[in-house]
Amino acid sequence: MTDPRISEEDFQKFREFFYRKTGIQFESSKRYFVDKRLQERIVATGNDSFRGYFTMLRFQASGEELQQLTNLMTVNETYFFREEYQFKCLVNSILPEIVAAKIDSSPLRIWVIPSSSGEEPYSIAIYLLEYWAGINDWDIEIISSDIDTKILGHARQGLYSARSVQELPIKFLQRYFKRSGDSYQLNYDLRQSVEFTRVNLSERADTRPYRNFDVIFCRNLLIYFDDISRKTAAETFYDALKPGGFICLGHSESMSRISSLYKVRKYPDAIVYQKPLEGR
Ligand SMILES: C[S@@+](CC[C@H](N)C(=O)[O-])C[C@H]1O[C@@H](n2cnc3c(N)ncnc32)[C@H](O)[C@@H]1O
Repeated sequence: MTDPRISEEDFQKFREFFYRKTGIQFESSKRYFVDKRLQERIVATGNDSFRGYFTMLRFQASGEELQQLTNLMTVNETYFFREEYQFKCLVNSILPEIVAAKIDSSPLRIWVIPSSSGEEPYSIAIYLLEYWAGINDWDIEIISSDIDTKILGHARQGLYSARSVQELPIKFLQRYFKRSGDSYQLNYDLRQSVEFTRVNLSERADTRPYRNFDVIFCRNLLIYFDDISRKTAAETFYDALKPGGFICLGHSESMSRISSLYKVRKYPDAIVYQKPLEGR
């Protein structure tokens, strides 16, 4: 008989396992949220108890079930032009400073992790097109990553609800989107301007190929991590940035509380963090 009940002991075991795999820490207050999703997957996979399911989750060679469950456990809240002051800082201060110090004509590289459904990297692309004077002089690569494969599918598709675009100035909605029923479809060129990839920020094997970035945006992810995973993330970003590269965090996140690897830079539009020029 199927009994998808989750005991306190099961919850603790799962919490520890999921934390090791993703860096995401579930407080006891999230018990209902976690139980509901675990129960859904226990039933969907034809298991009759948490025990059987948890064994499958840990030992399945493909990792497919862990990915399915992760897709359910993530919080994907995002919208266009969220925390716009940082995009202003990017075009008014960060990029001008980077190009002034540049000694070659290689592309400027921006990594946006986590992307969620793509509103943030696409907002950056729109911002650069609209407000950055250097747009015709420099090639830009925007790579955007998330652990959630389902949400990455949405990001690539570029189809958004009215709620997602409500902070976007209407002129940009008209310029870059086409109405499609109740949704808004981002135009093809903009969709092509961002490369989406699946990356678990807490997994070294995933992040190792990500190198030589000028700017990293990591907003509204570290709030779900504990201090140890935040510190690991700070070190990962350090290795991913060029010396002198910048990192922008969400408004409630502060690098100074996580790591002393970075210099704090206070610009008129935002406070951001910089890898020192003499960085490793
Ligand atoms: C609240 S959204 C933030 C989206 C966007 N950066 C913003 O600020 O609007 C958090 C995202 O983090 C992703 N995420 C959670 N754990 C992750 C991990 N270990 N590696 C990469 N992405 C992760 C989730 O899938 C989710 O899409």
